[in-house]
Amino acid sequence: MTSIISIKNLNVTSNKHVMLKDINIEIEYGDCIAILGPNGAGKTTFLKTVNGLIRQKSGTVKVLGMPLDNDIKSKIGYIPQNNYFDSLLPISVRDVISIGISAQFGIFKKFTNFDNKTIEDIAKGLNIFNLIDKPIGQLSGGESQKVSIARVLAQNPKLILMDEPLSNLDNKAQTDILNLIDFIYQEQTITLLIVVHNLTQIPKSCNKVVLIADGQIIDSGKKEDVFKHNKFKELYNL
Ligand SMILES: Nc1ncnc2c1ncn2[C@@H]1O[C@H](COP(=O)(O)OP(=O)(O)O)[C@@H](O)[C@H]1O
Ligand SMILES: [Mg+2]
Repeated sequence: MTSIISIKNLNVTSNKHVMLKDINIEIEYGDCIAILGPNGAGKTTFLKTVNGLIRQKSGTVKVLGMPLDNDIKSKIGYIPQNNYFDSLLPISVRDVISIGISAQFGIFKKFTNFDNKTIEDIAKGLNIFNLIDKPIGQLSGGESQKVSIARVLAQNPKLILMDEPLSNLDNKAQTDILNLIDFIYQEQTITLLIVVHNLTQIPKSCNKVVLIADGQIIDSGKKEDVFKHNKFKELYNL
């Protein structure tokens, strides 16, 4: 079985600044991986590279066994860090979820009753159907994060990338989103990569951990193994 993500000798630089150094990693289908590391370590750059958003790189990145062309990118759902919406944006929750359908089928797709039902079913599944006709900018942080998750599910992705999905949420919203991540991981055959800011933010479903520091993967493997290693303990002063 091939890996869902295969990265070989990846280096990313920007204006001579090295952002990722000699990254080599294979990620298996169905894994739920927490990506940990200090601020500025390169976690966001890593996710963007997997999503084909970074061009200044050397080495190879394959997803689903293929280079990152548009067809492959449509199978990757991405929730960026600090994913805020302007409070005056004249776009409803329904519109935002429908972006996921366009990402899957292209922007010229005509929306059918079937698509509308898909959107509504996803909203119901995530308990946000009551918000479906609200303007996106008027939701709480936790609610808008749920809408972002609904948007990527509408894309029917094989892989979901989330960049610090709990940042700037209060404790209750953090617990809500963690439960939602566990729920979608159990319901779908999906691979998840989640950048988390601290150890309490690791979803229960994550069975593996990748540690990034200073642009390099300094450790990776099963969560319980990585947690025993000195590199991990040093990074988190444990
Ligand atoms: N567009 C950019 N141009 C130049 N340097 C950048 C850019 N974006 C991020 N960096 C730098 O690259 C490094 C990695 O950043 P990032 O991937 O955002 O780290 P993290 O998500 O782990 O906090 C940091 O030193 C950051 O300052
Ligand atoms: Mg980041």
